[in-house]
Amino acid sequence: MAVSFSLLVGTLFSAWAILRLYNLFYNLFLHPLRDYPGPLGARSTTWWKTYIEVVQQESFVHVVMKLHEQYGSIVRVSPNELHFSDPSAFHDIYNAGAKWDKEDELYASFGEDHSSFGFRTYEEAKQRKEIMQPLFSSRAIINLQSLAWEKIDRLVSTMSARKEKSIDMLFALRCFTIDMVTTFCFARSVDAIDAPDFKAPIVEAMHTSNPTFVLLKHFPLFRKTLFSLPPWLAIKASPETAGLTNLQVILAEQVHEVVTNPESLNKAPHPIIYHRLLDKEVNKGQPIPDATSLREEAAALMFGGGDSAANTLTVGLFQILDQPKLYDRLKDEVYQAWPNLDTHPTYETLQKLPVLTATIKESLRYAPGVPSSLLRIVPPVGASIGGKHIPGGTAVGMSTVLVHRSSEVWGNPEVFDIERWMGPDAAGLDKWLVSFSKGPRSCLGVNLAYCEMYVALATLIRRLDMKLDGTKAEDLVWRDVFLPFFYGKRLRVWCEPVKS
Ligand code: HEM
Repeated sequence: MAVSFSLLVGTLFSAWAILRLYNLFYNLFLHPLRDYPGPLGARSTTWWKTYIEVVQQESFVHVVMKLHEQYGSIVRVSPNELHFSDPSAFHDIYNAGAKWDKEDELYASFGEDHSSFGFRTYEEAKQRKEIMQPLFSSRAIINLQSLAWEKIDRLVSTMSARKEKSIDMLFALRCFTIDMVTTFCFARSVDAIDAPDFKAPIVEAMHTSNPTFVLLKHFPLFRKTLFSLPPWLAIKASPETAGLTNLQVILAEQVHEVVTNPESLNKAPHPIIYHRLLDKEVNKGQPIPDATSLREEAAALMFGGGDSAANTLTVGLFQILDQPKLYDRLKDEVYQAWPNLDTHPTYETLQKLPVLTATIKESLRYAPGVPSSLLRIVPPVGASIGGKHIPGGTAVGMSTVLVHRSSEVWGNPEVFDIERWMGPDAAGLDKWLVSFSKGPRSCLGVNLAYCEMYVALATLIRRLDMKLDGTKAEDLVWRDVFLPFFYGKRLRVWCEPVKS
């Protein structure tokens, strides 16, 4: 009996090993992508990427940049995945006509499969985005700009009251964007701005759990187990992701309330996502999203809207304070548009200010935004990308960072230079500012993000005198974990309130 058991184990193991070896052989010699260059490990097995991201803890977009230097403009970064570096390839992949699916393994990692962000197919995402779009249109954002003014005033007043210490700008601005998104989408501010030292539990949780995303991505079993455990057990099993678990609990409670007591929506002072998502007419005969889908939509908006605008503002603010001439120009312009401290201008007025606009665009270009390659699946007929015919079924992507750091497009991409947005060639550059991606799966919150950035930057410049507290450019280092994880010293700024 003992012999036959060990024989069985041995046979199973051998079968498994033969299968793995065949897989390696197939990936290297028979796979449709066999002729594309890349490291041997990447061409052979998906474990190569796991090793780089999980064991080496390297920033994949930085690795990819080096690979392009070595292998050229198309690199096979995994057996079935290509990454492109030619800026025009970005528009081949992400454009209005490319209704391609999102790649399953990457997007499954978020646990938001039934949301505008997580739906794999164009059709599902289109239907969901059409429902929510009216809330995020530029008109709707202009009408609700008072929320941004109210939150940023509160942030600046709180900063002004804390004169004894410099301010952790990354966390302060994330408190602002989190309060914005929770108020704007759910009419329920988490009041992160009021937390001591801007260390709001939700902001800290999102920050610390950010790097664990690579684990969730590479180990689906770990992810599935974690997501199916009751919250108390999930927190014990993985303390690093406790923040995520707590966030899911808060969002589930919120959804439970609106589903069981829809009248509670009457109390909301402005239209929020649940008004639209739970409206039969708006859903045009399609079933109303269930509680899981509502919770996942809420989570997608929290993550989509939570960090990115604050990260961009932080990166831009450092550059402004590090370049006194730029700071003075911005002050001149904003003071002229906002002469009386008690009466702020409108968002529409700010949008017309050339120096402020150029600074926001350059911040978007310079900041990492969403640095990861946003993987799409080439449809069965194949597609032409970067001048090559790519076979159907291939996972393809290009990081926005490579477009934004292309010398071919920008000349001097490493320099934060707002002049590029003010010269005669500026109009042609808009095409290459791809922070919000392009095409049918581009950012739903783009108008909200712009409003937050204009209102926040103008207010910081008008209401405070700011000075760097020793932060250097090299402190603002980040690692690609889908969103950027800022692991260096955080931007600290002395903030003195302006009297008039
Ligand atoms: C500077 C700030 C922002 C940047 C740089 C940014 C960037 C992006 C990018 C690159 C995508 C495409 C992701 C993908 O292909 O998988 C995206 C999608 C998305 N963003 Fe944003 N975003 C920002 C702010 C916001 C805000 C404020 C919200 C809402 C509160 C938001 C909600 C979304 C949603 C729902 C999607 C999914 C769209 C889809 O998959 O079809 N984002 N964003």
